[in-house]
Amino acid sequence: MDVLVRLLQLLMLLLTLPLHLMALLGLWQPLCKSYFPYLMAALADKTNRKMENKKRELFSEIKGLMGTSGKVALLELGCGTGANFQFYPAGCRITCLDPNPHFEKFLKRSMAENRHLQYERFVVAPGEDMKQVADGSMDVVVCTLVLCSVQSPKRVLQEVHRVLRPGGVLFFWEHVAYPRGSQAFMWQQVFEPTWKHIGDGCYLTRETWKDLENAQFSEIQMERQPPPFKWLPVGPHIMGKAVK
Ligand SMILES: C[S@@+](CC[C@H](N)C(=O)[O-])C[C@H]1O[C@@H](n2cnc3c(N)ncnc32)[C@H](O)[C@@H]1O
Repeated sequence: MDVLVRLLQLLMLLLTLPLHLMALLGLWQPLCKSYFPYLMAALADKTNRKMENKKRELFSEIKGLMGTSGKVALLELGCGTGANFQFYPAGCRITCLDPNPHFEKFLKRSMAENRHLQYERFVVAPGEDMKQVADGSMDVVVCTLVLCSVQSPKRVLQEVHRVLRPGGVLFFWEHVAYPRGSQAFMWQQVFEPTWKHIGDGCYLTRETWKDLENAQFSEIQMERQPPPFKWLPVGPHIMGKAVK
């Protein structure tokens, strides 16, 4: 299987050689950072239509964390275009964080469309180092389709744990690897080196549930879902919450 994967990866590499050469020369990344927000904006409505019921159900739990103030401090980690805003209840005070500043234009549009929320600030930083966000300052962290792209899921989850208050909750929705040894997993391995460039650093074969289980959360609830789009090599998804 390993030899077959290597051969097919080589074939993919040859078919997409200009892309890999540009990446090698450092020309691809800046281009990708500029076009990726447009791609995410184009996909957001489609994804939200498919996931509407599930996202609504997951984020309805935020209300329970509001206490008597009726407010909740929420960090949208890897916020992208702000695709989740429409699912949040009124009373959320949102801090957005993303290392790609090109998302700001799209973020502002989502903010204008969701005036029931209060926006605090947009922090341009990676999730691995969120020093602009104080310890224990967040009631909720939301992370959707992000842990596939970060450099270190482990460090990001340590940072999430740090910024959450005791009892605070991380809500997640992430795509993950198919089972090892399956044909679908083999194709994920074949596509991954090319997909990583197209998808702004997105890995297809991460077993993110293991990172979540190994992080220091006191309680985790997680459900596995089939991929929302069959035509993409992204695999099954995991959705759930982790409590500090
Ligand atoms: C596939 S998009 C998902 C965006 C949004 N969360 C959504 O559900 O539509 C991945 C996002 O993760 C961000 N990202 C990449 N590396 C990151 C990192 N190290 N820390 C935080 N966010 C990161 C990207 O800039 C992008 O906004």
